[in-house]
Amino acid sequence: MTQQGKLRASLVVIALLVVALVALVVKFVVVGSTLPAQDARVVVALEPGERALMLREMRGFVAGLQRITDGLARGDAKEVSAAARAMGTAAAHDAPVTMFAKLPLEFKRLAFGVHGGFDRLAADAAGGASREQTLGELSSILGGCVACHATFQVAAPPAAR
Ligand code: HEC
Repeated sequence: MTQQGKLRASLVVIALLVVALVALVVKFVVVGSTLPAQDARVVVALEPGERALMLREMRGFVAGLQRITDGLARGDAKEVSAAARAMGTAAAHDAPVTMFAKLPLEFKRLAFGVHGGFDRLAADAAGGASREQTLGELSSILGGCVACHATFQVAAPPAAR
């Protein structure tokens, strides 16, 4: 092969690798692993263990909301802040990368909106935010819970079907 021929062949290989890389990014960052649902929602297809992890986190959200509202009712800013912090962005890092790759971009956007909202609420409550301000922030976080539940489902493990 001539020098030019070799160069052309390497360029073709590089181009193919770039296309494959872009396809992988689109698959794992944007599309995720999804199926159509019976209603208008989208089903995120997860392994039973991943689904269990996600639902456990969801129930943790409800427990955290209980702590926040209890703290608000008693004027205990420390409790409000600690409960919100536990639901912040740091908590999202518990999700394994393989599971993360199955989540569609919109799902991740909504999830980080909620986690980030709790980070801000935690910081503001610790910084002396009024009950009204905290409730306002809580309401907009809950808007994220509502939006995601209106859009997504997770696939049931085969045993539950
Ligand atoms: C990024 C998406 C997303 C966000 C944000 C989200 N959820 Fe969920 N949640 C889901 C999905 C998907 C399910 C499973 C629903 C299904 O399969 O029908 C679920 C299920 C639940 C469940 C049922 C748990 C169980 O054991 O069955 C609760 C409770 C819940 N979410 C509470 C919340 C609360 C509270 C918030 C906000 C603080 C929240 N979720 C935010 C996606 C989300």
